Amino acid sequence: MKFSVITLFPEIIEAGFSKGIVGQAQGSQLIQVECINPRSFTQDVHKTVDDRPFGGGDGMIMLAEPLAKSIESIQGPAHVIYLSPQGAPLTDRKAKELSQKTHLILICGRYGGIDQRLINSQVDEEISIGDYVLSGGELAASVLMDAVSRKIPGVLGNLTSSELDSFSGQRLEEPSFTRPREYLGQSVPEILLSGNHAKIQEWRKNLKDLVTLKKRPDLFGEKGPDLHHLKKFWSDLSESEKKSLGLQKFPQENA
Ligand code: ADE
Repeated sequence: MKFSVITLFPEIIEAGFSKGIVGQAQGSQLIQVECINPRSFTQDVHKTVDDRPFGGGDGMIMLAEPLAKSIESIQGPAHVIYLSPQGAPLTDRKAKELSQKTHLILICGRYGGIDQRLINSQVDEEISIGDYVLSGGELAASVLMDAVSRKIPGVLGNLTSSELDSFSGQRLEEPSFTRPREYLGQSVPEILLSGNHAKIQEWRKNLKDLVTLKKRPDLFGEKGPDLHHLKKFWSDLSESEKKSLGLQKFPQENA
């Protein structure tokens, strides 16, 4: 997968992409990231990349031409994305879909946005990372690249890890514990020390449902979980386990 990021601030992209799993994937050639600065495609001495909006208004608008030339400078066919709060929401499903492409061009706007005509003529898709406004698309592009990279086979050490992550199966992750076994009077649930992997797997599955019910019940959609079964599972936990899991109360009072 190649990401070509069109940005006035390549340092922001590089900072987010040099470390961790995604940084390693870049080292191992599974992912390639390049930044293209529209300032390199300006003609005037001031290297102008933006101007005031016609009709007045706040913020500067990025000029179409330096962006178009940036895109033209990139080799090969690619899927062009403009990061914008007006775009379709970035979801786990969208990340998976984008991971199947081989080359993404990510346009990062700054200031008041970019000229609409550039969007009309060059952009395949607008994507938003959430209902809030960032001061530029760089952080959004970094988020998108991280989420997409994790879906590329081989990027995560364990091929199935991203499938097990929250959202992939529309369930949140269950709580995790590491050493020490006891911390602030809270113990690691006994079953996790039992070595019985089949039982642990079943237990974790129930916990995923409980945690999802507590934090994001909307993820269940129309057909909710089996509340009767979950209530029984929760009731069978010891008080100490409930405390360590942060599940002192059953998530749905009326169940
Ligand atoms: N640029 C500014 N805000 C954004 C957002 N929420 N998502 C994507 N790109 C953006």
